[in-house]
Amino acid sequence: ELEETPMELGGEQGRWEEERLKTASLSFGAKREREQGMRYEQEKYQLLLEEDEMIEFVSTAMTMKGTRAEKDAPALSQAELNKQSMQEVRRSLPIFPYREDLLAAINEHQILVIEGETGSGKTTQIPQYLLEDGYTNGGMKIGCTQPRRVAAMSVAARVAQEMGVKLGNEVGYSIRFEDCTSERTVLKYMTDGMLLREFLTEPDLASYSVIIIDEAHERTLHTDILFGLIKDIARFRSDLKVLVASATLDTERFSCFFDEAPVFRIPGRRFPVDIFYTKAPEADYLEACVVSVLQIHVTQAPGDVLVFLTGQEEIEACCEMLQERCRRLGSKIAELLVLPIYANLPSDMQAKIFNPTPPGARKVVVATNIAETSLTIDGIIYVIDPGFCKQKSYNARTGMESLIVTPCSRASANQRAGRAGRVAAGKCFRLYTAWAFKHEMEETTVPEIQRTNLGNVVLLLKSLGINDLIHFDFMDPPPHETLVLALEQLYALGALNHMGELTKVQTSLSWYKCSEEVLTIAAMLSVNNSIFYRPKDKVVHADNARMNFVVPGGDHLVLLNVYTQWLESGYSTQWCYENFIQFRSMRRARDVRDQLEGLMDRIEVEVVSSQGDSLPIRKAVTAGYFYHTARLSKGGYKTVKHQQTVYVHPNSSLFEEQPRWLIYHELVFTTKEFMRQVIEIESGWLLEVAPHYYKSKELEDSSSKKMPRKQGKTKEELG
Ligand code: CDP
Ligand code: MG
Repeated sequence: ELEETPMELGGEQGRWEEERLKTASLSFGAKREREQGMRYEQEKYQLLLEEDEMIEFVSTAMTMKGTRAEKDAPALSQAELNKQSMQEVRRSLPIFPYREDLLAAINEHQILVIEGETGSGKTTQIPQYLLEDGYTNGGMKIGCTQPRRVAAMSVAARVAQEMGVKLGNEVGYSIRFEDCTSERTVLKYMTDGMLLREFLTEPDLASYSVIIIDEAHERTLHTDILFGLIKDIARFRSDLKVLVASATLDTERFSCFFDEAPVFRIPGRRFPVDIFYTKAPEADYLEACVVSVLQIHVTQAPGDVLVFLTGQEEIEACCEMLQERCRRLGSKIAELLVLPIYANLPSDMQAKIFNPTPPGARKVVVATNIAETSLTIDGIIYVIDPGFCKQKSYNARTGMESLIVTPCSRASANQRAGRAGRVAAGKCFRLYTAWAFKHEMEETTVPEIQRTNLGNVVLLLKSLGINDLIHFDFMDPPPHETLVLALEQLYALGALNHMGELTKVQTSLSWYKCSEEVLTIAAMLSVNNSIFYRPKDKVVHADNARMNFVVPGGDHLVLLNVYTQWLESGYSTQWCYENFIQFRSMRRARDVRDQLEGLMDRIEVEVVSSQGDSLPIRKAVTAGYFYHTARLSKGGYKTVKHQQTVYVHPNSSLFEEQPRWLIYHELVFTTKEFMRQVIEIESGWLLEVAPHYYKSKELEDSSSKKMPRKQGKTKEELG
């Protein structure tokens, strides 16, 4: 969906770029200087790419050194690793020599910060050590949080395998809408958001003996909230052990926040990584990635490649491009295994990235920044880093949240580079200039809490009885206006009363008599824009199939239509295939829907259908999202409260129609500020559902004097 060309990075070349690499270089200049012995390689090389297609990298002679670079240590080959038993592999991890010291430190201190290079074994080993040391005696659990769903699942699977147990028994995971644990589960991996939810049912986390807040350096919103809550319960639960685990970043800050908790450092085993930059900014980083992978494949010694991209669409496009070019080159090049990894990838596909590379072949893993620190893939020697990531940003003044592709931070870039030096000396190819690295990237990533809407968090904290949010123990407090805006929005929604206390909102849920449909819509919206499948070679067919689902009123109703037809097909896979619908996403929507229906049952709200009438559905959406209203005006739409210019996303069913009043589900910023998932409403409903939020003056049509078209007609339309 992010169709924009990447931001131009840098311009001027830094002085320190001058030293050109003479050997083993990917640059064309240096290639000519190569010796006779390299001719075979050169030939293969030219078959692949024309001279002007090449990317010229320069070395800055900058090498990232590990904390304890063991240049001479022989890297274990994959085959050797396979021969060893699981237990031997466990003993070979950098954390293993520190097992006893670590357990002693945990025994001695209630809160411990653990710092260790990614891949040293923190996530997979520490819970097992604790279990072996008796921390789960008496049915107590060890909880380990992960900011990412994929990491929670894959790490749990790995640990279950190491322990020789079935996933879901002694070792399990819990992520939103998927609980893979049982009564027997003692090692529980979960997303940070799920542990937050557990506070609702067990405010003192009494069933846990140890809580590990892992990947603390990621500083996700949920992890930051956990810091405050767990610090608080640790005060009265002296038997609870708290471990804060982080890559080698920021650990002093964690120690400081947790009242000077000691830091346990696991010395890294990292090999040097040579860093290369492009000479000039790359206009198309996707293309540059593909070319770089192929360059590495034909010119560099064996070793797998890891590419960092920003999201599913980009990753799929990159994989397709790579596969296509490999097909064309056929037997002229060695086998290249192209594997994607991102959050929505089904777990059997995810597991593939961990399979050892067959001899003679090379593996390329194309990943989101999930592979930055959350997942370690053995055998990576080369990293390609375009320098971007997708980041949430929030404008507290307008209340707008958007997902933007932005340059990543230097800290991120260095983590990415570090992935190349885990098993042997590696190389990192940065698709930006050294100048850009130095001058255009931020030092570190801003914590999520400072760039997100806090509505859900405020609601959760209020449900936990924490009313004074201004004085909550935040490691980095959110901007004051963000907090105030969240409170205002919840008040406007009727979730808080004028005292700032929670109200019972479920009664309003039954007003519009369409909970059946709204459940489906909510479930479909939750699967994140991955419903429609649009393969590059069948774009026309896919778009036609999509058009067939269009119904009047807007995208929410289109989603409802897709789900209803799928249901009528008996949840058929074949039906999805024929209609260019992603079966996996639908299956997930169905799971989500089932769970939501269960929740409705629990709060005793009846599930009723509007019997094909879309009016109550549109009103219900208005009731929930009235603060996301936009009005047609000259040259686009304007949000009602803040007069921000926004546009209907080209994928929307209302792209052509451009109705006067819209409610949008979310805003995404790509080339412009786009509204994604929009539904047509009537302005009169706004006064009906949110009289405390809108004044009739704001919604009057006189304000649309500036807008030439469609005037006059609208008054009746509004009814
Ligand atoms: O948490 P940390 O980054 O310190 O390391 P880890 O995730 O515990 O990984 C330790 C080792 O387990 C690495 O060598 C990984 O390659 C391996 N691992 C794996 O093979 N499969 C997984 N799903 C997770 C980890
Ligand atoms: Mg880890």
